[in-house]
Formats: sequence, structure tokens, C-alpha cells
Amino acid sequence: MALPSTEQVTEALTGVIDPELRRSIVELGMVRSIQISDAGRVDVTVSLTTPGCPIRSHFQNAVSQEVSRLEGVSDVGVAFDVLSDQEKGRLQEALGRPRLPQGALAQVKNVICVASGKGGVGKSTMTANLTAALAVEGNSTGALDCDVYGYSMPRMLGVNSRPEVSSERKILPLDAAGGIKVMSIGFFLEPNAAVVWRGPMLHKAIQQFLEDVDWGELDYLLLDLPPGTGDVSMTLAQLLPQAKILIVTTPQPAAQSVARRAADMAGKVDLELLGVIENMSGFTTPGGDRFTIFGEGGGQLLADELDIPLLGKVPLSQELRQQADEGVPLVLKDPDAPASQAIRDAARGLVAATPQELPVMQAAAPAAELATPISGTELPVLSQ
Ligand SMILES: Nc1ncnc2c1ncn2[C@@H]1O[C@H](COP(=O)(O)OP(=O)(O)OP(=O)(O)O)[C@@H](O)[C@H]1O
Ligand SMILES: [Mg+2]
Repeated sequence: MALPSTEQVTEALTGVIDPELRRSIVELGMVRSIQISDAGRVDVTVSLTTPGCPIRSHFQNAVSQEVSRLEGVSDVGVAFDVLSDQEKGRLQEALGRPRLPQGALAQVKNVICVASGKGGVGKSTMTANLTAALAVEGNSTGALDCDVYGYSMPRMLGVNSRPEVSSERKILPLDAAGGIKVMSIGFFLEPNAAVVWRGPMLHKAIQQFLEDVDWGELDYLLLDLPPGTGDVSMTLAQLLPQAKILIVTTPQPAAQSVARRAADMAGKVDLELLGVIENMSGFTTPGGDRFTIFGEGGGQLLADELDIPLLGKVPLSQELRQQADEGVPLVLKDPDAPASQAIRDAARGLVAATPQELPVMQAAAPAAELATPISGTELPVLSQ
């Protein structure tokens, strides 16, 4: 039987995707060598960005799988080495990132940004409660506060202490009720301290949270975004081409303008829109009368305009607000409350709309489209 050529093996290796960089190992220059023996054995050496790469076995399996499909291949051997500093430098430059990820998010199956066009619509409340609802459904979950100026995860998830650093020099997230892993800038600040960083520092902080935190294996990592569609979402899009966006809105039909802004952002950063949650969707009195305090229909309008599903309508609820202030999400405290039920439904919708395995076989858009360099100085609070 004919043996495959080096070109054919290289072509097959374009199907091996780095889960963090979302590009093939061929495009990333990570294929060090290919050797084809007369007996049909193919040996591939892959150069990793970091020696202790937690996703080595992913590369091992994916290379074997892709190469063994070729006709004439009897056996596949996979070996590893590490990119030289110079090679890493070239890769960083090509990708427009000051450094390469070290595998912190490699085992996170889904990264979901909870966003809105405007402030105060309940993004943080939804992030905390959805994370809890996903955990109740049996998923391993984490919540990352990307709202550096107005962080609220410590309060809403009831954890606040200085995180420890592991022997591998990774920051360990705190554990909240329900087994949720949490990270927030608030853990590193004196109480009530204001954060006054500008662009580059913000980028740096978010990057550290994504790359220097030991997230481990997670089914879902939810990111609580700051209000609006500014800098942070651009940073996230660049660092996380695999992230998806969940939009929170209130029921005013005027949400149309928000729809446009949110869609604009998603288009600009090239992230997939997952669905809409309508929050503050009517208030029902103990007597059963329903008042549509913030109007009606905005969530559906937004979902229709964006052509994505409306995952839930969460009512105005005093308990939901109280529990957010007390640090135990209502979904955990009272899973049967109407607001909890709506959020649990939305969580099930999220699960249905997202992959349950590491989506490692999908490549991202070509590198050139994402290469807007980001810069910054070491964050003082996180650098010790
Ligand atoms: N369905 C609801 N019923 C009652 N109160 C709610 C509801 N959703 C959110 N809240 C309350 O509204 C306030 C704003 O919510 P939250 O902080 O979650 O909004 P946000 O979109 O994260 O705001 P920001 O844009 O400032 O980050 C909080 O006090 C929260 O407890
Ligand atoms: Mg918030």
C-alpha cells in the first residue's frame, strides 16, 4: 500500500486544534517533525508552549486520530518538545498577545460572557444564580468577575478572602456555596477601595484572571461583564475566541436600541451570541396580581432581532435581590421560588445550547483578524 507523503500528514494535522488558541498546530507552527517509515509508521513531534501542558493528552489523541485516518498508516507515534523562547516570541507576535496561555482554560468546556447593552439590568445577579443553577444540574462551574470597577461576585456569592497561590504559581479560585469556583478583583483589594486603572491595567487584570488562575476542569465558566460594550469585551474576545455571549435585558420594548448595540459588539468581536435572558420581567404580588413594572416583550423582541433564543424570563423578586445581598444565590436557598425556577429553566436551555465536550476540533478565524496587540504593566496586586 502507498505511504502518505509529508504534505498529506501535514494536511491531516490541520485538524488538530489547540483548544486555547483555537488554531491548528500546523498554523501555530507547533509541528516540529514528521517521520514516515517504510512500514507505515508515522512519528510526529509536537512543540508545546509550556512543558507541563495540561492538554498534552488532547494533542496525543488528536494527532493519532487525524494521522491514522490516512491510507497506508499502520501506527502513529506522538512525541513532545517545547517551543524555544524565540519561537514563542514569534508566535506571540503573530497572535498579537504579549504572552501565550499556559493551559489555565484548556480544560474549561464553555466560557460564557454575561453581557448587556446597559447597566443595572441584573447581569451580576444572573451570573451568580445561573452559575449556581448549572452547578445544581450537576455541572462543575466557575464565576469570573470581569467588572473590575464594579465587582460584585464576592458579595453575591458570599466569598471574600485573599486567594492562595499554588506550588505551580497559579492563583487558586475561592470556593463558594454549591461548589462554585470564584475569582474577583475584589479579593485582592482593601475593603471599599476604588479601582482606578485604565485600559492597559484592565487588560492585564483580566488576562491574569484568565491565564494565571487554576480553573482546572470546568463545564461552565461564566464571566460577569461590566455594563456596556467597551474595552473589556474586546480584551475577552481576543483572549477567548471560543467564548459565547449571553445577553441580559429588561422587558422595555425600548430594548431595541440595546439590541443593536449588543449585536454590534458581538459582530465586532466575532463572538457567538447564545441567547437572551429577560430580567425584571413583571412582578407578581402574593395575591397573584401581576404588574409589568418595566414593560413587556423586550426580551422576545431582542431575541427575534438577533435571531437567537429567549432562554428565560426572570420575574422581579425581592428574595432574589435579598439573597444576592446576603451572598447565597436564591437558586440555592429556595430552588422552587418562581425566580429560581425561571433561572433553572434558563440554565437548562444553556446546557442544551452548548457542547458537553471540549470543543477542541473547531478552529477560530484566521489569526490576522484578531491581532490587535494589547499591552500593559504587571498588576501590583497580583504579582507577589
Ligand atoms: N429579578 C430581580 N428582581 C429584583 N431585584 C433584582 C432582580 N435582578 C437584579 N436585581 C437587583 O437589581 C440590582 C442590579 O442588579 P445587578 O447588580 O445584578 O445588575 P448588573 O447588570 O450587574 O449591574 P451593573 O451594570 O452595575 O454591573 C441589584 O440590587 C440586584 O439585586
Ligand atoms: Mg454587575
